Amino acid sequence: MNHTILLNKRPVGRPDLSDFTLITEEKPQIQSGEILLKTTYVSVDPYLRGRMSDAKSYAAPFQLHKPISSGIIAQVVESNHSGFSKGDYVSALLEWKEYQKSTGEGLTKVDTTKVAQSAYLGVLGMTGLTAYLGLTEIGKPKKGETIVVSGAAGAVGSIVGQIAKIMGCRVVGIAGTDEKVEMLQSDFGFDVAINYNTTNNMAEAIAKACPDGVDVYFDNVGGPISDAVLFNINKFARMIICGAISVYNETSLPKSISVQPFLVKNSALMQGFIVGNYAAKFPEAIKQLAAWLEDGKLTYTETVVEGFENIPQAFINLFDGKNKGKMVVKI
Ligand SMILES: NC(=O)c1ccc[n+]([C@@H]2O[C@H](COP(=O)([O-])OP(=O)(O)OC[C@H]3O[C@@H](n4cnc5c(N)ncnc54)[C@H](OP(=O)(O)O)[C@@H]3O)[C@@H](O)[C@H]2O)c1
Repeated sequence: MNHTILLNKRPVGRPDLSDFTLITEEKPQIQSGEILLKTTYVSVDPYLRGRMSDAKSYAAPFQLHKPISSGIIAQVVESNHSGFSKGDYVSALLEWKEYQKSTGEGLTKVDTTKVAQSAYLGVLGMTGLTAYLGLTEIGKPKKGETIVVSGAAGAVGSIVGQIAKIMGCRVVGIAGTDEKVEMLQSDFGFDVAINYNTTNNMAEAIAKACPDGVDVYFDNVGGPISDAVLFNINKFARMIICGAISVYNETSLPKSISVQPFLVKNSALMQGFIVGNYAAKFPEAIKQLAAWLEDGKLTYTETVVEGFENIPQAFINLFDGKNKGKMVVKI
């Protein structure tokens, strides 16, 4: 038998378990030219929240009562396809199913002999690409500059900070617990980290952590944290708007300060960013990330939840900051 997770209803506000349904169905039979995949790791990502709503966005909404999809690592368990052998591991955007068949289209084979499977969902997958391409293509950090990263202890943020350190920057991270603050400084080499949940005046705390002001801001969260950064930007600052998790579950338009005066006064750049826009640069970015990983210049952490049925809960946990580094589900 096979298990599949469907979108049961569109979440209103914070997602909850009743928004998802787990069903049991027949395991698929493969035909000629097809392979049978067994899911081994599932990536849960904040952007999936956007696809669960039917608002217009850069990615099509998930359909109600149909399987949800995300980045998945799977093993080929049966093959009627000349390009894939039993035992191969692949990475792809696949459905939340224990078993699914494929024609091979859109699958990338991954080498799991030197690197853990789950790394292809994190540092060597969309996470790493987002961090590297957002930072280098829009942030363009220069040696000696100061960069602030929000959502710093998460999947993207923890990689951004390390890359900025490799590039010779002063790196300040913002995260939600003292444990994460400690991890950023001791494991990931951030110069300073701030716990936004225990800091009353974020603008002042950022000013103190950035005595020379903020040259680059890698924004994963939006909302009041990002407003506080604006008070500290330097002339010609670059702000990469990668995500806005603090507002993804809002049901009405959130109140925010006007960014225009800050941008004008500082001749600053604020640019929205979608990693898919840079697909042509994925091969060179992955090559660089893999080289840093192999040299020990880059490291990563992940939070692993076990069990197919726990995918929805792992996804919901992102909004409560329950992950350190990349959140993945091991099947
Ligand atoms: N533009 C793109 O192409 C692209 C690609 C990938 C990801 N993204 C975006 O990048 C951001 C990070 O993604 P990720 O996969 O690396 O997720 P992540 O940071 O690993 O996980 C989400 C983190 O967000 C923080 N958070 C949750 N609610 C918050 C709130 N109200 N205020 C501040 N922080 C909050 C939590 O950490 P704390 O404990 O620190 O609160 C949580 O651990 C997301 O906004 C995502 O949508 C964009």
